[in-house]
Amino acid sequence: MSETKSIMDYETVALDEEKGALVIIDQTKLPYSTEILELTKQEDIWNAIYLLQVRGAPAIGVAAAIGVYLAAKEIQADTFDEFYPAFQKAKEYLDSARPTAVNLSWALNRMDSVCRANQEKPIGELKKILHDAAVEIRNEDVWVCKSIGEYGLSLVKPGDGLLTHCNAGKLATVKYGTATAAMYLGQERGYNFRIYADETRPLLQGARLTAFELYESGLDVTLICDNMSATVMRNKWVDAVFVGCDRVAANGDTANKIGTSVVATVAKRYNIPVYICAPTSTIDLNTPTGADIQIEQRPAEEVTEMWYKERMAPVGVKVFNPCFDVTDNDLIAGIITEYGIARAPYTESLKEIFLKKEASKDEKKIAD
Ligand code: MRU
Repeated sequence: MSETKSIMDYETVALDEEKGALVIIDQTKLPYSTEILELTKQEDIWNAIYLLQVRGAPAIGVAAAIGVYLAAKEIQADTFDEFYPAFQKAKEYLDSARPTAVNLSWALNRMDSVCRANQEKPIGELKKILHDAAVEIRNEDVWVCKSIGEYGLSLVKPGDGLLTHCNAGKLATVKYGTATAAMYLGQERGYNFRIYADETRPLLQGARLTAFELYESGLDVTLICDNMSATVMRNKWVDAVFVGCDRVAANGDTANKIGTSVVATVAKRYNIPVYICAPTSTIDLNTPTGADIQIEQRPAEEVTEMWYKERMAPVGVKVFNPCFDVTDNDLIAGIITEYGIARAPYTESLKEIFLKKEASKDEKKIAD
């Protein structure tokens, strides 16, 4: 009898060395079917990011790093001067797929730094170095998320009710997720959390992905519509909110999936702490405040007809479909990074987190 594979047995985003392909789970097909895509062409990788076949800030960073390595591998050049313009073109192309999640440009800039730092090397060797850099970005994500999970777990207690919005889970990262990392680690340690997953309109990442992966993993998860978060909070069923992020500004204002700021505002009303789970790759000290974050606008069809059997809104009606919103820093109880928990005032504490990161830069970051 063949064993049925759980979604947790698949890799969200990986490099197939033999095929020279970026391998992802097509997240637009979940939870009904698990389709694995093997992408080699830059256009297909760009589309996969734009169409949310691979999504979630850390996962798109990893996909872009692997993507630009695959582009580099194909560049026919004898010298760095011939190689670099083609590399930069591929980098800029992938970077244009989505604007809000800073992980995309973070990963591509890191690959670019590696490229420039090794410009004296023969092109064959440079390609190998870029390969290793992409694999390192992917592998590091496991440690980053696990560390966020450990810090997150220190903020809650067994039996707590935790609410999350969108999918900042395994499907948005390489393994543990960010917002879900404490949930998975808590499960291993018998914490028996009760999780509330917002369905997350319009693309239903909470229903299709978060509820799916937590349920498949055996956690106690209850799916709610976005407009039910006030009810579960008022009922005292929620002790903390854990969400992910796409870009944290220097003052702690945080862009995450549209609806996060509504959750945070309601949580403040009921004195429930809201924790932003943020790998340092998602913190952008060059963006001063939330007002400076570019918010991606998505097609109207996502609101009017996607996921429905029939169109659910009048043809021609005006639609506003921002993909993310900004949660003001005063609604945030803490920003959980892989180097510790930043508290207000964030302008100071986030800088300290980066100093810690710098101080530990020679340590190997490995987790399984
Ligand atoms: O549009 P999406 O599905 O890519 O949005 C994802 C989110 O908003 C996540 O919360 C965020 O990227 C963090 S994932 C660890």
